[in-house]
Amino acid sequence: MKKIIAANWKMYKTPSEAKKTLKELISLLPADIFNQKEVLIFPSPVLLQAVAEETKGTQIAYGTQNFYPAEEGAFTGETGIAQMRDFGCQYALVGHSERRHILNESEEMLQQKMHAALQEKITPVLCIGETLEERKSGQLEEVLSRQLASALQDDKDADNFLVAYEPVWAIGTGEVAGEQEILQAHAFVRNWLVKNCKNGQEIPILYGGSVKSENSKQILALDNVNGVLVGGASLNATIFSKIALS
Ligand code: PGA
Repeated sequence: MKKIIAANWKMYKTPSEAKKTLKELISLLPADIFNQKEVLIFPSPVLLQAVAEETKGTQIAYGTQNFYPAEEGAFTGETGIAQMRDFGCQYALVGHSERRHILNESEEMLQQKMHAALQEKITPVLCIGETLEERKSGQLEEVLSRQLASALQDDKDADNFLVAYEPVWAIGTGEVAGEQEILQAHAFVRNWLVKNCKNGQEIPILYGGSVKSENSKQILALDNVNGVLVGGASLNATIFSKIALS
């Protein structure tokens, strides 16, 4: 399985900044890197045109950070999954902790998003993870299994999705989870997928939360870590290229 190196640009960059970053990134990545790694970019929707233009003819794929789970309709301010597909998005983040906790996205909405993305043949990246309080009170496995079961309710037989384990307390805090914490959570997710899904052994599981060029190599070497989802450290082409090359 190729390791997946994904950049979550969140609400950063203008179109010209996005183009500059991608030009730099493309110049820093040797062509043979794509034999071992898949490189994905999740930009804000207003950058999609710039990202589509700049990645044309390269092996860098991109996806949307968000979408509304309907083909079209009266949903003011939203962008539909079919529109994202038209823009060339091959992937979509679903359930990122900032959407769960800041935008109050419900588990029911996330389940609809998983289903809509799969129907539209866009590969969803289902983000799951516990808060610090949940971890401290021993609810890690309960939270992860609840988030998986609820989002995959109608799609357990799907084979075209990814899971990203991102402990909420490690996102944007500089506090990366320890090796044992990552190993334990990823083993739990792998077992859950094997037990409950048709292709559980094949579903890539990414780790996210304060991944940097200094720790990416160790994290990527851990059992059941099939890639990383990088926020802050993905905004700079030099740093992100080091992560991709690690
Ligand atoms: P971070 O964000 O790398 O800045 O912690 C990760 C994410 O939000 O996916």
